[in-house]
Amino acid sequence: MKSFFTAFVAIATIVALPLDARPVAETSALSVRAATGLDKLFKAKGRAFVGTASDQGRFSNAQNSAVTLREFGSVTPENSMKWDATEPNPGQFTLSGADALVNYATTNGILVRAHTLVWHSQLPTWVSSITDKTVLTSAIQNHIATVAGRYAGKVRSWDVVNEMFNEDGSVRSSVFSNLLGTSFVDLSFAAARKADPEALLYINDFNLDSANAKAKGLVNLVNTVNANGVVIDGIGTQTHLGAGGAGGVAAAIKLLASAKNVKEVAITELDIGQAGAADYTAVVNACLAETKCQSITLWGVRDPDSWRASETPLLFDANFADKAAYTAVAKVLA
Ligand code: G3I
Repeated sequence: MKSFFTAFVAIATIVALPLDARPVAETSALSVRAATGLDKLFKAKGRAFVGTASDQGRFSNAQNSAVTLREFGSVTPENSMKWDATEPNPGQFTLSGADALVNYATTNGILVRAHTLVWHSQLPTWVSSITDKTVLTSAIQNHIATVAGRYAGKVRSWDVVNEMFNEDGSVRSSVFSNLLGTSFVDLSFAAARKADPEALLYINDFNLDSANAKAKGLVNLVNTVNANGVVIDGIGTQTHLGAGGAGGVAAAIKLLASAKNVKEVAITELDIGQAGAADYTAVVNACLAETKCQSITLWGVRDPDSWRASETPLLFDANFADKAAYTAVAKVLA
């Protein structure tokens, strides 16, 4: 139970200090995080955070929470902020899961990387069956105003548009693109900016793992949307890799960072089949090589809770013990 031991030592150290001798951040619940946590190591390199996917069913587990607060400086809701979870029927908002995630982060002094507002998947049928442009526009605007508005000032960033590209770089067929063309991107980002002017607004996708056609298609779209200023602040690359699949990541991140007026690039959902130490090392080095790469989010804490559990792709095993991949990442960041 290394995690509990580390947390105990950290708490014991803090308790031993007179209150006024503690750095401000160390007087909060942040203090349970050991000095060797991945987030602190990454921040020491001038980057924003290392985070993990979470949700109530995860952080309500004491061991999960201990590792989360020891290692990570941000949580991304794995499912609780998606459209099917937040607005299952028109105008009926069900935000208890999202509220719980934001409260957990706020209480513990960590960031929220919010995910996601406009996505063709986990989309209620009342949205996917809309056939009228005006009705769809209103649905998008109302959804974003309500969900992003509720957490305004409490999240660092939002994945506004998720997974809108095909592998060849063309725009995926969805209710959004079919009715509105790529104007759904502009109107979604405008609605998000209005709802939460301080959040960094991201476009996010998967298989952007080399300088491939999909990454180029995404960069072309961002160049167009951002032609006259910053509409899209950041590009997220999910980075769900297979074993041995990290070779193109550095080139991909450089390409994404070259998009016009983009402030940040983020690795948003990292997991790697079999969690090879060399693969994880390559991904972290690829991020460190590009100063715009400001955050790395793991898609979960321990293997059995992963969406691809059978591939054991994460940094912690079933007992929440560090794996070789964890040691490799910590070594690169140290
Ligand atoms: O909430 C229902 C529950 O009521 C029901 O009883 C249960 C029965 O199967 O299903 C529950 O929903 C599941 C949901 O996760 C919440 O646990 C869905 O079946 C399940 O398909 C869903 O999977 C999520 C998946 O997105 C859906 O597309 C994964 O947990 C989540 O890790 C995954 O995350 C996505 C990112 O958002 C976008 N990028 C890819 C990534 C991996 O697919």
